[in-house]
Amino acid sequence: ASPSTKQQDGQAKPQPQKVEVTGWVRSIRRHARISFAMITDGSTEKNLQAVVDTKLTKGLTNGVSVRLTGTLSDSPGPGQDKELVVENVECLGECDPEEYPIQKKALTVDYLRDHCHLRTRTAENASMVRLRHTTLKSLQDYFDNEGFCYAHTPITTANDCEGAGEAFLVTAPGIDEPASSTSSPAPSHFFGRPAYLTVSSQLHLEALASSISRVYTISPAFRAERSHTGRHLAEFWMLEAEWAFTRNVDDVCDVVEDSLKFALEKASENSKGDLNVLWGPDATEKLKILESAKDEAKKWTRMSYTEAVKELETFYAQAKNKPFEIEPKWGRSLGSEHERWIAEELVDGPVFVKDYPETLKPFYMRANEDGNTVGCFDLLVPGLGELVGGSVREERYDVLKKKVEDAGLKLEDYDWYLDLRKYGGAPHGGFGVGFERLVKWMSGVENIRECIPMPRWQGRMLL
Ligand code: 4AD
Ligand code: MG
Repeated sequence: ASPSTKQQDGQAKPQPQKVEVTGWVRSIRRHARISFAMITDGSTEKNLQAVVDTKLTKGLTNGVSVRLTGTLSDSPGPGQDKELVVENVECLGECDPEEYPIQKKALTVDYLRDHCHLRTRTAENASMVRLRHTTLKSLQDYFDNEGFCYAHTPITTANDCEGAGEAFLVTAPGIDEPASSTSSPAPSHFFGRPAYLTVSSQLHLEALASSISRVYTISPAFRAERSHTGRHLAEFWMLEAEWAFTRNVDDVCDVVEDSLKFALEKASENSKGDLNVLWGPDATEKLKILESAKDEAKKWTRMSYTEAVKELETFYAQAKNKPFEIEPKWGRSLGSEHERWIAEELVDGPVFVKDYPETLKPFYMRANEDGNTVGCFDLLVPGLGELVGGSVREERYDVLKKKVEDAGLKLEDYDWYLDLRKYGGAPHGGFGVGFERLVKWMSGVENIRECIPMPRWQGRMLL
């Protein structure tokens, strides 16, 4: 509370507030008598303008950490309501302006990736970290409100959930080493069997959903992705929800749509400043996209894979120049070029594509009655392609057993998973949303590597 004195009319008149401020100097403009330093402590996208007697500014350069004391007053200048009129400056940590890698001039994305331990000192990267924080919190609020229990699943695992052969192997020094010659003893394993870093928490969540009903987790996921694209990381975060007693794929899509609209709504309420920093000059256009996507009255489009492929085929056949590198055909997976065309050109908004051919999807998805598709969906969004993947799971013991075998998986590795169907198996389903992809979509940031503070991809792990 600010100290106040009584005015003549009896109203309290606010007195300038004495405050102590800690932070870093983002920039400084020096004049003969007074100087203006922009100070940030990283808690918001806003800087605090400090008005300092130029005599006190020795050593105040970009990046220096400071403790300033003074009074907080109404600011006569444009751009801020309040400014700090500084009485005392304490430099806590110096920062050589000749050497400091984060200069005021525009720094390239590659340069900042090479300095990722310093890059959250730039406005955009700091905004991205705060946007992650608020978005994760709103998603947690959503699932809490809907009666989901936040549960923890293991990071080391015996299975490769998606069966894509992208799981990293975990080794322990001196134990998991491969046999160097035929005479050396057979290798043993730290866990008594090969262990992987999780690619998805889904199978473990299914076990929990079989007793807790509604569960979700927010977990790192690891994939040895060889694709160097703007939407793949080797280590990313995924929010996965799983619940028992779903009826069909549309039930699962409803929860995806509802939770993401909630997150978009909260971001537009609470993260406007950070979004504006990330949107940059395209802010008006990007805001329109966000407003339209979160509109409760406008349901996101849903179509089957079969319908989507028909549209792609027609477009491909009628186009003068080959519009896609790979010709779309029923039975082929949708590449990012196809996904983006569907979301950007065909629909111009988020779209659930449902019921893919069984051959394209992992073993756990529930077989549809038509005998060749499964009850699944991918949510595709403009500027990105796939944002969410989910399905209803095969809950019929015999069908699942056959699917495990057909996928070439060892039955003994999945007996625990089959148990879930044997003992009170309930229809259930769920989904996983790639958290960095969500941040990329919301922020319009070009590459997913700028949507996580310290990105990892093939050939790159700096710290
Ligand atoms: O589509 P995916 O592979 O689905 C699963 O893992 C399911 N088991 C999820 C579930 O049903 N519980 O991955 C889910 C999402 C993708 O839609 C994408 O957003 C993201 O995870 N994702 C990645 N994000 C960044 N880098 C990568 N390499 C990613 N791979 C998938
Ligand atoms: Mg997928």
